[in-house]
Amino acid sequence: MIEWFEAWFDEDYALLYSHRDEEEARVAVERALRVAPELQEGPVLDLACGTGRHLEILRRTNPLTFGMDLSKALLGMAPGGLRPWLLRADMRRLPVKVGALHGICLWFTPFGYFSDEENRALMLDLGSRLKRQGVLVMDYLNADLVTRTLEPEDVVERGDVRAQSRRSIEGNRLVKRMVLTHRNSGEMRDVMESIRLYTPGELQEMAVRAGLRLRRVLGTYSGEAFHVDSPRWIGIFEKAW
Ligand SMILES: C[S@@+](CC[C@H](N)C(=O)[O-])C[C@H]1O[C@@H](n2cnc3c(N)ncnc32)[C@H](O)[C@@H]1O
Repeated sequence: MIEWFEAWFDEDYALLYSHRDEEEARVAVERALRVAPELQEGPVLDLACGTGRHLEILRRTNPLTFGMDLSKALLGMAPGGLRPWLLRADMRRLPVKVGALHGICLWFTPFGYFSDEENRALMLDLGSRLKRQGVLVMDYLNADLVTRTLEPEDVVERGDVRAQSRRSIEGNRLVKRMVLTHRNSGEMRDVMESIRLYTPGELQEMAVRAGLRLRRVLGTYSGEAFHVDSPRWIGIFEKAW
């Protein structure tokens, strides 16, 4: 069976999320570098890098930064100069040595895609790949805000694509079901997202088990402190042992 995250992250995703652009990435990376200067040196992984919008900025400061993603389509859309620095792999099987990385970044919610067991195993794995005092940037959603402000339905049109979305909270997951219509060809497809909603406390508890200590929590890409109505929960952790 093909999982939702194997099917969805392609050219249609890139078009519908094109407002998540290079400028947003620049602001986020510049702020993260100030809170976590460890990202400036040594091997750093932009995990689930997509088209490489953060990777390109990170590499201006640290030329040992590399990216990894499962989506052939998104990796194929990355700027040509990034090619030697891109890997295609599943984050559940990281092809990286234990203790090798100075930093790992997960930008724009690539966490919570799997079962609880697999998400927890992934967090442990991320901790193990970091060297002592390495940093993890976990850019995750604000689960409480998402639940309180859920928009059950909307329609978005970008370029040739019309996306009708229905959102619901199913158990402890945010589920978004979309019908995409390519207006020129009339071609239609169904896609979905299903993200486990973790509270900040649950994320921290998982991170502690992975040997990570919370250094700072930001609520926006520009670096405001997290509060209950913040759009993001960006945890910056350091490997404690
Ligand atoms: C919401 S996008 C974020 C992309 C990028 N970080 C950004 O901010 O533009 C999530 C990314 O996770 C990747 N992804 C999903 N499942 C994955 C997996 N099992 N292993 C590696 N990458 C995965 C997708 O292909 C996609 O690029």
